[in-house]
Amino acid sequence: MDYSKDIAQVLITKEQLAKRVQELGAQISKEYEGEKLTLVCILRGASVFFADLLRNITTDCEIDFIAVSSYGSGTTSSGEVKLVKDLSSTIEGENVIIVEDIMDTGVTLSYLKRMLQARNPKSIKICACVDKPERRTADIKADYIGFTIPNEFIVGYGLDYNEKYRNLPEICVLAPEVYSE
Ligand code: IMP
Ligand code: MG
Repeated sequence: MDYSKDIAQVLITKEQLAKRVQELGAQISKEYEGEKLTLVCILRGASVFFADLLRNITTDCEIDFIAVSSYGSGTTSSGEVKLVKDLSSTIEGENVIIVEDIMDTGVTLSYLKRMLQARNPKSIKICACVDKPERRTADIKADYIGFTIPNEFIVGYGLDYNEKYRNLPEICVLAPEVYSE
């Protein structure tokens, strides 16, 4: 499949991603040294970032998965978050880091953080691969951020447009023609 005509620009290269994920992994490993940590992956977009981040964490950690839906199809959120798949284990008394692909309006993460907070974890933090602060409507901040980008619709490295482009190894700006078609 040749995606090149659908891509306006490569925004974050493989090398930049690898380097930043390594830094985030080192920072998290240091901060949670000697603590029990559960990394929660938000399916499906965060899966690629999650797998890379996980392999850069050198302290004991467990993993779990949760799925929500907020986007129907298209490039703007419906603003409504639905829990599609819950965690498999309890998180009471545990240190939790929610790992997300991108923080856009912040609606998804504020919903999830509130929901998980109610289960009485010892601590709860957010790690987002990409942050688009211009679009924020919810009052929420990520504790760990890979990259801060302007308001552009991006795909690749797990991020999709209508379920496509998740397999691109770099983060790319989608050509506007693709979603205005
Ligand atoms: P929020 O609730 O508006 O913060 O949206 C978060 C979710 O929207 C992410 O998990 C992504 O699935 C999706 N999303 C937001 N911006 C983009 C983008 O630029 N490309 C692909 N998906 C995006
Ligand atoms: Mg998503």
